[in-house]
Amino acid sequence: MKELLVKIREYALNEFVPIIEDDALNVLLNSVSDVKPKAILEIGTAIGYSGIAMLSVAPNDCSLTTVDIDTDRLTVAERNFKEAKVSDRVKIIEEDANYLITLLDQKFDFIFLDGPKGHYQTMFPYLLNLLSDKGMIFVDDVGYHGWVDDGEYPKHKHRTIITNMRAFLKSIEENKSIISKRVDVGQGILIVKKCINLNC
Ligand SMILES: C[S@@+](CC[C@H](N)C(=O)[O-])C[C@H]1O[C@@H](n2cnc3c(N)ncnc32)[C@H](O)[C@@H]1O
Repeated sequence: MKELLVKIREYALNEFVPIIEDDALNVLLNSVSDVKPKAILEIGTAIGYSGIAMLSVAPNDCSLTTVDIDTDRLTVAERNFKEAKVSDRVKIIEEDANYLITLLDQKFDFIFLDGPKGHYQTMFPYLLNLLSDKGMIFVDDVGYHGWVDDGEYPKHKHRTIITNMRAFLKSIEENKSIISKRVDVGQGILIVKKCINLNC
């Protein structure tokens, strides 16, 4: 499995497919190992790199539901899931994740949010609703090149994402129904769990 992941990572770098950075992947895989999920939801499949990596450390009976809007990437992802021999554990959905999450009605023990960066705030309440009580939401790229915590706004092109990400992080801080932790690796990670006892 490790060899295949190295190959997929190389392909991603050569073809300019954005995938999770190495140090963030380590934290992601440790988190999956801790939670021992039976069902994972991934927003942002790309070419299956993080999906295959998560399944490699999850229990054998864990399934992955993964969504992406990009047909070409999903074609490559399907091939990679096959090569990793995990196709029978994976449900690939080609859809706008913003829409899909309003339709799903099963619970997930682990949700990896790595999709449309400007939409995390609007997506979050739906994801929280889909999360099992002891589950975890793992959000990648919340620092977005370090710009989210900078006073300065970057180029116009990124402005909406930065503004929305700042609003998202503020709403997380203010949300009393969850506990959250930011980890400063990769492009910045946010880990969220439901607050299930009275002391939160
Ligand atoms: C950073 S990549 C995912 C990387 C992958 N999780 C990994 O680490 O291997 C983000 C993906 O989100 C997808 N995406 C962007 N907007 C989307 C949307 N509205 N619905 C579903 N997927 C979306 C992009 O096509 C892209 O493949």
